[in-house]
Amino acid sequence: SALKILVIPGSLRTGSLNAKLAAVAAHALAQEGADVTRISLGDFPLPIYDGDLQAKSGVPKHAVNLKRMMAAHHGVLIVTPEYNSSVPALVKNTIDWVSRVQDAHEIRGQVFRDRVFAIASASGNRFGGVRALAALRLILSACHAQVIPNQLALAFAEDAYDEMDHLKHPTDAEALKALVRQLIDVSQRMM
Ligand code: FNR
Repeated sequence: SALKILVIPGSLRTGSLNAKLAAVAAHALAQEGADVTRISLGDFPLPIYDGDLQAKSGVPKHAVNLKRMMAAHHGVLIVTPEYNSSVPALVKNTIDWVSRVQDAHEIRGQVFRDRVFAIASASGNRFGGVRALAALRLILSACHAQVIPNQLALAFAEDAYDEMDHLKHPTDAEALKALVRQLIDVSQRMM
């Protein structure tokens, strides 16, 4: 069966630069033969993490469902915006809740430990969200995830696409291809 990759944009905004990059990455992954699922975190709404809430009602079903969805894939690509030099609260809060889901809920293995993660970001400025990537790498590593060395920080993202929504600058397209290929290569070892 095909290699399964889950793509998660870290922004809910209509016209999100990161959702757009996630769409381009999903297309590139599919072209390389992966079976790609692209989701919106808008379909997994979660309250801000609160230990009292967890003690009273358990982990919300959307966190359990999201963790199940991750467990059903070999690799996960997170495409995150940069907010004030870090990941948006949406991304951190989602990971915090998912990290609290008990293993018994999972399909197989440990969701972070046994899956390969890749990270990318898009930003309007010249740094491309590289500080958010450093933060996200640290967070995922704390969850024992394997995060591949390649990453993509898409700078000047408003001007990065042509009319077909393809990456118009060859250096960006090459960086995306390298990321996608490494994610597939490393994920294949998990099959
Ligand atoms: C930003 N933005 C931003 N950009 C950046 O490169 N570094 C940063 O530290 C910040 N900080 C920041 C804080 C907050 C609260 C907001 C709302 C925005 C700009 C951000 O990159 C831009 O809004 C992107 O377009 C957000 O991603 P999406 O929604 O287009 O995917």
